[in-house]
Amino acid sequence: MAFLPALVLLLHLLAPVLAGLPDKIYGVNLGSWLVLEAWMLPAEWLAMGGDNCADCSQCIGSEFAFAQAYPDTVDATFKGHWESWFNQPDVDKIAAAGINTVRIPLGYWIVEPLVDRSTEYYPRGGLQQLQRGLQQLKDAGISAILDHHALPGVQTAGQQFTGRCTSDVEFYTDYNYHRALIWTAVMTTLSHLDPAFESVIAIEAVNEPIMDATQTPGYGDFQQNFVKVVRAVELILGLPVPGVQLDVPVTTANFTHAVESVCGATQLADVFTPEVIKTLLDAVPVLLELAPQLAVAALFDTALPAAPCNAKHEPLVTNFMDVNWQYNSPPNPADAALGPQGYDNHLYYSFGGVADPNPDAYMTSICNLNRVQSDAALGNSPLWFGEWGLPVQFNTTDAFLTMWADAQKLAYAQGKGWIFWNFKVEESALAGDLAREWSYFKGLELGFLTQDPSQVHNASVCAPYVNSTAAA
Ligand SMILES: *[C@@H]1O[C@H](CO)[C@@H](O)[C@H](O)[C@H]1NC(C)=O
Ligand SMILES: *[C@@H]1O[C@H](CO)[C@@H](O)[C@H](O)[C@H]1NC(C)=O
Ligand SMILES: *[C@@H]1O[C@H](CO)[C@@H](O)[C@H](O)[C@H]1NC(C)=O
Ligand SMILES: *[C@@H]1O[C@H](CO)[C@@H](O)[C@H](O)[C@H]1NC(C)=O
Repeated sequence: MAFLPALVLLLHLLAPVLAGLPDKIYGVNLGSWLVLEAWMLPAEWLAMGGDNCADCSQCIGSEFAFAQAYPDTVDATFKGHWESWFNQPDVDKIAAAGINTVRIPLGYWIVEPLVDRSTEYYPRGGLQQLQRGLQQLKDAGISAILDHHALPGVQTAGQQFTGRCTSDVEFYTDYNYHRALIWTAVMTTLSHLDPAFESVIAIEAVNEPIMDATQTPGYGDFQQNFVKVVRAVELILGLPVPGVQLDVPVTTANFTHAVESVCGATQLADVFTPEVIKTLLDAVPVLLELAPQLAVAALFDTALPAAPCNAKHEPLVTNFMDVNWQYNSPPNPADAALGPQGYDNHLYYSFGGVADPNPDAYMTSICNLNRVQSDAALGNSPLWFGEWGLPVQFNTTDAFLTMWADAQKLAYAQGKGWIFWNFKVEESALAGDLAREWSYFKGLELGFLTQDPSQVHNASVCAPYVNSTAAA
């Protein structure tokens, strides 16, 4: 019987390692850090030299417009923003709030060799900031989801969160899908070989693609390729991929060299498709350029095949917006899964179209939400709510915002959990009341959010609103 405690101990030790994701995600987004959205920091943006205007394509209203307007100073200006918007005091506050996960919105331009500088303008130096922030998060025991939030070519029109406000949406093309895949190969490699990236548990393929699937041609193929690129890198690193064995030996500890030799010899056509091979080979010079900047010696000395540098030895979770994000016969990302995968849904009531603009309608809607169930029916499980907040379309009381926070947390915890948008927003005269409904730190301060994120003020908050028809 001495066997039993030993087994229990072993399982206990293995459980957090094998899980990858926390049991329940209690998270915040690190929005406006490496992808800046001026509406969240209006006074700082003006002070930097940006403009606030109603149509962000008509002024210096995005990172792209800013970098185009200030080519000589953009990098230094953004360095100042990156270092002040998210740094150790923020990590300390996030940790003190019991948050176990952050979602980090990133632009494709953080992998600088992917930017065509003749037509595309973005600040430089973000990757070192990401490395710095991930190290701080790792030291605090907080997991990170790398979220490809702003895609090459722009994935949706007229939004600051894509880095460029434009109606010229070009992401859904072979050229830009390919650039996004190179980005994915680079991030997967760094996540496994740069010790600072050990906090990374997942990579999200595309934030908020266009909802009408007829306008996103090729997105289903991209989903397949995204997963294959992640798993191809992991196979070369000797990580386990369910049901798949690399068919050629890796005989060098130099990762980029291993990529070249495996891509030249493998017959594992299910994973190493021509597009995946092209992606990995195109990622090699990018990695060779980045490795000295990031001081990732492990790229050239991974002690393969026995052990990749990253101590965790676990495959990343591939992450997509859920199938129900889109309509008009969308591709189902569940069809692309190979190894651990998770799904993301975003829910904001303040933009309209979800419920009538009054407190009772909001509560009736959230208390009868069935997105976790309807996603699970399509294989999109586990599901978490990677963006939500407290904003509403009406003037409201503190008492309602407290109920509103509780009800949303209860709804989202029926799935894998939640990630609030945003960890903070600017507090200034210009920003007005913005923080009250959009800032996790402010919501804690005002008491809408509980100090322990797993708790709510009132577990029965939904009782009067649960619709017996929907519940049955
Ligand atoms: C690692 O391999 C790459 C790709 O073949 C090569 O360019 C590079 O010089 C190698 N680096 C070292 C340190 O051997
Ligand atoms: C909210 O209150 C302010 C100030 O009392 C008022 O100007 C505004 O019209 C109200 N907004 C709504 C949506 O009721
Ligand atoms: C919790 O909410 C329910 C439903 O509105 C209400 O009946 C109950 O009084 C509330 N409990 C507390 C402690 O406020
Ligand atoms: C109850 O929920 C169903 C399904 O969501 C909905 O069609 C119906 O209108 C709801 N009834 C009430 C009284 O809210």
